[in-house]
Amino acid sequence: MKYYIETYGCQMNVYDTGKMAELLKANLYSETERPEEADVILVNTCSVREHAEQRALARIRELGLVSGSTNAVLAVCGCMAQRFGRELLNIQGVDLVMGPDSYSGLIDGLARCSANATRVVDTSRKPGFRFEPSASGERPGLRAFVSIMKGCSNLCSFCIVPSVRGPAVSRPPEEVLAEVRSLTESGVRDVTLIGQNVNAYVGSDVDFAALLGAVSDAAGEARVRFTTSHPKDMSPSVFRVMVEKQNVCEHIHLPLQSGSDRILERMRRGYTRADYRKLVQEARSLIPGVSITTDIIVGFPGETRQDFGETCAFVEECGFDSAFMFKYSPRPGTEAASMADDVPREEKERRLSELISLQRRVSFRRSSELVGQTLEVLVEEEKLKGDSLLLSGRTRCNRIVLFEGPRDLVGGFSRVSVLSTKGVSLLGMLSGN
Ligand code: SAH
Ligand code: SF4
Ligand code: F3S
Repeated sequence: MKYYIETYGCQMNVYDTGKMAELLKANLYSETERPEEADVILVNTCSVREHAEQRALARIRELGLVSGSTNAVLAVCGCMAQRFGRELLNIQGVDLVMGPDSYSGLIDGLARCSANATRVVDTSRKPGFRFEPSASGERPGLRAFVSIMKGCSNLCSFCIVPSVRGPAVSRPPEEVLAEVRSLTESGVRDVTLIGQNVNAYVGSDVDFAALLGAVSDAAGEARVRFTTSHPKDMSPSVFRVMVEKQNVCEHIHLPLQSGSDRILERMRRGYTRADYRKLVQEARSLIPGVSITTDIIVGFPGETRQDFGETCAFVEECGFDSAFMFKYSPRPGTEAASMADDVPREEKERRLSELISLQRRVSFRRSSELVGQTLEVLVEEEKLKGDSLLLSGRTRCNRIVLFEGPRDLVGGFSRVSVLSTKGVSLLGMLSGN
């Protein structure tokens, strides 16, 4: 039996896809890259912006035609499954709809669909943390995510995540540590702890800083990262752990969303531009070489040219290493959806492209500061660039560096001197020391 899976959205979905794949493999399915030869086709979906949903719907329709002709089971999972539930059965070919809390029932759901030619919907919420499927025995890659929380209890006015993923639930620390140990013992060299707002972690009496310290000890030689940090809950105690623990990497993803206090207030983010500036200053003064990346939304309801100008000036001031930038997309049921969406589409597009070119310059500036430095990289793979095969590695600050070197360095740490940059990625050479 074969399965084919496509994943949209954030790290939570990537993690969940991995867990579903483990479950399928433990039940004697193997993966295929061709939907036409699959017995089960899964689409793990995202609802965060309308565009993401439209793309996924178009893809589900296409895959519905495939499953119709091959008799495969077509399963829609993830946040759109949770949001639309039974409605998705109206798309021709869809057999199974499963919300993110229901994946432990995946094998059972598939069996019910195939045996009785019935269609199954499970979007029930489970109170505890998510499922722990049996291990498939397959070796993981060099990098892995470990989920430490599900859901989100914030009320950012633009965001649909809390309504599709439910309130924040922290995973017990002993489970997190066991997963980290098992991954690093099987060869993982870079572990990323994930959650919508990791700083809000509360597992028994362990806060996020304490969890990070314990994970660092459990990970041994492997690198440790985390995402996403929320500025309103980020505390210097996390910065201190980043400094004390050698294997915790110097990278913080800290979504700003807007540089205007008026818009931050309307977004219900719970911090001001001054609070954010203080965090950036503290992080930079405590953590040598820290890289800070961010998310920004342009064209939020009520955003004036002046508000947008404040965002641009602040982006310049913060000097982000890189940023994900989005046009505001109204999401049904959110507080912002009831505000007048008064920034015309073309103006949103103009602001987005202006911000992207600004950030490109800022990223280049930050990268240029790395030229001449010798950095530790985890060598991930060989890559064909033009005619030559180069090694591709990741720095502790989460940059990709390409350099010449022997293939047997893949999987280990090397020291690389940075020679040049074209933007975010770097070119380097193996260093003698
Ligand atoms: N939990 C994370 C964000 C998760 S969603 C945090 O709080 O930072 C990832 C990003 O998508 C957000 O940071 C935001 O920039 C963007 N996003 C979320 N909802 C959006 C919307 N309605 N329109 C446009 N972008 C949105
Ligand atoms: Fe959405 Fe805000 Fe929660 Fe992030 S913190 S997932 S933006 S509600
Ligand atoms: Fe998208 Fe769901 Fe993640 S809405 S961003 S896949 S939590």
